[in-house]
Amino acid sequence: MSSPNVRSSQPIPQFASTRALPPLRVLDGGGPATNRVTGPVPRAGLHIVPQPVAEPAQPFLKWVGGKRRLLDQLVPLLPTGRLRYAEPFLGGGAMFFRLWSLGRLESALLTDASADVVNACNVLRDDVDALVGRLRAHAHAYLPADADARAAYFYAVRDRHPSLVPMDAVERAARMVFLNRTCFNGLWRENRRGLFNAPHGRYDAPTLCPEDRLRAAARALDAATVARADFRSLPNLCRAHGVTFAYLDPPYHPVSVTSAFNAYSGGAFAATAQAELADTCRALDRAGVRWMLSNSDCDFVRGLYRGFDIRTVQAARAVNCKGDRRGTVAEVVVRNY
Ligand SMILES: C[S@@+](CC[C@H](N)C(=O)[O-])C[C@H]1O[C@@H](n2cnc3c(N)ncnc32)[C@H](O)[C@@H]1O
Repeated sequence: MSSPNVRSSQPIPQFASTRALPPLRVLDGGGPATNRVTGPVPRAGLHIVPQPVAEPAQPFLKWVGGKRRLLDQLVPLLPTGRLRYAEPFLGGGAMFFRLWSLGRLESALLTDASADVVNACNVLRDDVDALVGRLRAHAHAYLPADADARAAYFYAVRDRHPSLVPMDAVERAARMVFLNRTCFNGLWRENRRGLFNAPHGRYDAPTLCPEDRLRAAARALDAATVARADFRSLPNLCRAHGVTFAYLDPPYHPVSVTSAFNAYSGGAFAATAQAELADTCRALDRAGVRWMLSNSDCDFVRGLYRGFDIRTVQAARAVNCKGDRRGTVAEVVVRNY
């Protein structure tokens, strides 16, 4: 563990890596996430190093519905002090990277149903050089090409899906970052079979290998446990890891037919899932875990969380809203504290 008083050109981790832990759960690439956690999950050994980090970290994936632009409104609503933190709908992880950059984390347990999200984080953390190398190769093949050749390259990469074609973890992570940065609107969208299916975007000069951003994110992830898990396993995971606070940013309940964009991970996040999520939050509440949840502002969501603190923040309209309705839209933030 680094001493807080040692000066070093290397950023000092906020907390000891939990990488020595056995995996929370091991799922093959294409299989569904379930609410079971396989095997015992030991507690993370935690070390407190009260020192600000050298360089802020940011999401390395573009994520529609990501919280980056809402962070200035959300962070003041968090509990004070350092957090034993869980984020069960990780996506691009905007909140995690901000909290790490602020030195607010004592530990972090990051989970998502998406095998690609989890794999990309783990590869970035464990072998950033290999990931950078593969992304440079994608950039070398893609950027000099004309529009037709770029599209052909994109669809060739897209069609080599890890559940159809054997590929190692690094290639899979590079595939995700490449597709995320070259697809239409940075939209990571999967069909019901879990196959990424967003079309090619047409950016003149996309940054395919944002090396500084990747290395900063890798340093932040070095201290985190990242695993594939369904949100229904959160109470068990919080108990096993001594989590005291969770931030939940699920696929939003659609407020209209046109805003029904909630199929990030191989299937819609239906109203029944929203209700089960509210039950999960009540279980966390009974277990003494504090939580904050984001969702759309509608009667259905407000009804699910009746009795908890509900307030609103103003968000930029989502990509799928009507082009003529610009400006902001209210979202709810629900808290049990
Ligand atoms: C709104 S996004 C999270 C965005 C993230 N907060 C950010 O700032 O980028 C929702 C995430 O929930 C994940 N997800 C969908 N269904 C899930 C489930 N049943 N359990 C866990 N994660 C799920 C999706 O894969 C997606 O990454």
